[in-house]
Amino acid sequence: MRSLTKASVFLGAFVTRLSGRTPEESHGNDEVFLSVNTDAREGNVSSPLLYGAMFEEMDHSGDGGIHAQLLRNNGFQGSDPDLTAYKPIGDVDISVDPLRPVSNAINASLQVTVPKDVTGFVGFANTGYAGVPVTNATYQNSFWMMGEYNGTVTVQLVGSSSGDVFVTYNLSVESTEKEFRRFETSFNSTRAAEDGDNEWRLLFDGALVNGSFLNIGLVELFPPTYKGRANGLRDDVAKFLEASKPTFLRIPGGNNIEGLSIPKRWIWNNTIGPTVDRPGRDGNWFYPNTDALGLDEYMWWCEDMNMTAVLAVWDGKSYGGIVSGPDLEPYVDDIMNELEYLLGPSNSTWGSLRAKNGRKDPWPLHYVEIGNEDDYTGGCPTYPDRFTQIYNAINATYPDINIIVSTGVQNCIPSPLPPGVMIDLHYYQSPDPLVGLFNQFDNFPRDRPVIIGEWGCRNTTAERGQFWSFVQGSCAEAVHMIGFERNSDVVKMTAYAPLLQNFAFTQWSPTLFGFSSNPNSLTPSTSYFIQQMFAGNKGTSVLPVNSTKDFGPVYWVASRNETTIHLKLANYGADNQTVIANIPDTRSGTLEMLAGSQFAGNKPGDIKIVPKRERIVSKGNSGNYTVEMPAWGVAVLAVV
Ligand code: AHR
Repeated sequence: MRSLTKASVFLGAFVTRLSGRTPEESHGNDEVFLSVNTDAREGNVSSPLLYGAMFEEMDHSGDGGIHAQLLRNNGFQGSDPDLTAYKPIGDVDISVDPLRPVSNAINASLQVTVPKDVTGFVGFANTGYAGVPVTNATYQNSFWMMGEYNGTVTVQLVGSSSGDVFVTYNLSVESTEKEFRRFETSFNSTRAAEDGDNEWRLLFDGALVNGSFLNIGLVELFPPTYKGRANGLRDDVAKFLEASKPTFLRIPGGNNIEGLSIPKRWIWNNTIGPTVDRPGRDGNWFYPNTDALGLDEYMWWCEDMNMTAVLAVWDGKSYGGIVSGPDLEPYVDDIMNELEYLLGPSNSTWGSLRAKNGRKDPWPLHYVEIGNEDDYTGGCPTYPDRFTQIYNAINATYPDINIIVSTGVQNCIPSPLPPGVMIDLHYYQSPDPLVGLFNQFDNFPRDRPVIIGEWGCRNTTAERGQFWSFVQGSCAEAVHMIGFERNSDVVKMTAYAPLLQNFAFTQWSPTLFGFSSNPNSLTPSTSYFIQQMFAGNKGTSVLPVNSTKDFGPVYWVASRNETTIHLKLANYGADNQTVIANIPDTRSGTLEMLAGSQFAGNKPGDIKIVPKRERIVSKGNSGNYTVEMPAWGVAVLAVV
């Protein structure tokens, strides 16, 4: 959970000089002349996977986030289940009932006790993840019920404060006290709520139950999902991510795979199959995880968004203990079972379970990371052996899988690393130090591929920097990404992190984007736009650029693909700069620019900084373009 640079630990020996001038050293508005060699074919090859994403359940990014299910605490998961998000409706008592579990995995239900003489419809509400978004949409709704009841159940979407009833829907149920039965329905909301202050209610006829009780469990409410998948992603959130153009997804990213203790680790086979068979767990970020967004859902997510999966496997390290040596063997077997589940034929032991769970063909999986940040939380001394044990097992069966080592700290990893193993570096930096790492890969060994599995500009102490990305920080990110692009023959993958948050549950900020239960609350950070601008304008190879100045405050990189030349520019300084670029054999294209005052940024529901796009034409079709770069501006020129 720390946020220091680790790249520099590994890379120290290779860094030749710090990057260019800091803003304080810049000398006001000068012209910078750049001449792009569009004929060159010797530039570094650019990785097609350069810009991706990392997903970790934190900030309610999954439960109450990109996973579409809207009701909170629906399975009473976690080691200390309580009534969070529930409230009684009418003259009833509600309690968590561990004696009537819905299944072996969902080991409690909600008991609704109805006093004698109660009449009319009574029940309970679930207030969701700080509210339930209500839009004009068709909702899928299900619940499990136990107790003698033969009659009408009413489900509703209601404004918690306003009392506005957006949806009332009746269904007939025949419930018995012998077992839990599942009831499923769908209903339309024809009215959207103005805010997220809404709840879902389940009501039943109190006269049929008075003096007794009903148990209800695993309530699930889904708005439309991305690509219509059952148990899928929230359509609006997923599309917002897709628009940032990620090419890979590192899952399950970050500390959350590790577990606060060994039994609380992310256990892959507890996250597959029907949600009623998923027990959930205490997550590393101090709230129960439902694991409804599980291994198969991650893989569908990758497939539906055309992203390459980068799967992290649990490698023996938790926050509360480490397993190594012979004791690790059963966990190595478990990793091999996980890989057979993903990759095995549908008649193999684990592959057949995958087929039963809805995916006949093996999943494409080419990247596996062994653990997360094994230089931290006591992992370092045993990681070289744990890594080797797991690497050998995977490599013997799946020699084509690219294996990733979870840290670049040299004394924590085997020496030498097996050929081809990728190094995962994580770092969160404030703006100036991030710019200072601009050229950290320039002299990196070209045969050691790198993934930056988590990185971003994070200013936790500075005024205005605490909550959300701001223009200077995002400009620093752009400078750093120019460094990635210049070295993308080595830097194969990068993921700005963390990815997203539900604004009502902020644990770590900034994130790439966020939202709440309010309609239209999806909010891009300035970093989101930088990722989008860079990922949307990738070349296949880097082009040499002659310049009249050294890097700083203006930074640049040029690249080409079959049709287009891209020139990316960042002005990391407090003065405007004029860039005159010569790009032979081109005439016109687009100029996209993100700029604003140094500390400006977007806030939840308050989007002030967005990129501006305009057409640009070279003077007299000469291939000469003049770009006025505002202070802290980031620009992408795409010309043909
Ligand atoms: O992204 C937040 C945390 O930072 C991750 O959980 C961890 O891997 C890193 O230290």
